Amino acid sequence: MSAVRFSGVSKNYGPVVALAGLDLDVAEGEFLSLLGPSGSGKSTTLGLLAGLIDADGGKIEIAGRDVTALPPEKRDLAMVFQNYALYPHLTVMENIAFPLEARKPKPDAGEIRRKVEVVAQALGIGALLARYPREISGGQQQRVALGRAMVRDPKVFLLDEPLSNLDARLRIRMRRDLKALHAQLGSTIVYVTHDQSEAMTLSSRIAIFNHGRLQQVAPPAEIYDRPANAFVANFVGDREMNFLDGELGVQGGVPRFVCAGGSVALHPSAAVLDAGKLRMGVRAEAIAPGRDKGDLRGTVALAELAGPDLFLTVRLADDTEIVARADPREFAAREGESVSLAFDPARIHLFDAETGIARHHGAA
Ligand SMILES: Nc1ncnc2c1ncn2[C@@H]1O[C@H](COP(=O)(O)OP(=O)(O)O)[C@@H](O)[C@H]1O
Ligand SMILES: [Mg+2]
Repeated sequence: MSAVRFSGVSKNYGPVVALAGLDLDVAEGEFLSLLGPSGSGKSTTLGLLAGLIDADGGKIEIAGRDVTALPPEKRDLAMVFQNYALYPHLTVMENIAFPLEARKPKPDAGEIRRKVEVVAQALGIGALLARYPREISGGQQQRVALGRAMVRDPKVFLLDEPLSNLDARLRIRMRRDLKALHAQLGSTIVYVTHDQSEAMTLSSRIAIFNHGRLQQVAPPAEIYDRPANAFVANFVGDREMNFLDGELGVQGGVPRFVCAGGSVALHPSAAVLDAGKLRMGVRAEAIAPGRDKGDLRGTVALAELAGPDLFLTVRLADDTEIVARADPREFAAREGESVSLAFDPARIHLFDAETGIARHHGAA
């Protein structure tokens, strides 16, 4: 039985399609991220699941029970938002205990205390129980908000961009803690984020949205290596994907991608493709710049040293630009220099030029 199931769920705001016919299953114990750009329907999906938004159509089930018409308090969920509001006049202990105090019948004081301590221990804030929110850091406040959700022991946790108000380093630390916490609790989590690297590192599976439509749902490695379409391919990864338009050709029995700037050898398995207009997508890390070994040549327009990586923006003869990555200890080039570009055929993606739908991935 799925922890959560959406069947044909849709939501419109006037002419705006916030969510179009969503079919999605979340497995018990899964950490599922809803990923997409701003306005793609992630919060709508979470709000529908929580019962804060009414669906125009479709069915939502939690642990096998149809909850589509149930109010939020009857759905056995706990939510943590980006703007987690702690009660400033209550201590950490009282903040976490709040949902238990409100429960009917109310558990006795000893039991409440015990539950809060277990949760606080798991979150590493056991020593802060007597403090007030203003006396602890942002990251600690975020843990208190999580604790307040955990103490209810819900069927499913819903988290909407819970880390986005934290600074970059703290966000990465909290990611690690969230992941460890999930492994320890084994609870089902539905997590909204627009940050692809957050989704990549945290999730057991990622559901990617664009314009209210689910684009792909798969484990992070599959999303990265076998994107369902050009939108997904471009949305995941630290940098934008390189795209070149062209078509399939053959040379010496080897399939090649032929574009305005030249041609690139493809993985032999690409030979099965039908002819037609294609869009080639390649990540910077799958293109090695060099002096003379490679299929395409161009001039370095921009050289960016980013820690362990040197990113070269290379302008081809037809003025298209390709970003390639080098290890700066092994290769260096300055702006204006001519370089070659060697493509790794196993990491070339081919999409339909019109629809963007994936036609072939080098690593079959
Ligand atoms: N209450 C609302 N009234 C009108 N339009 C809304 C409302 N809530 C969301 N929308 C629209 O629905 C779309 C999806 O929004 P949302 O689910 O909040 O996106 P995300 O969380 O992915 O940024 C957006 O175009 C947004 O402007
Ligand atoms: Mg949102």
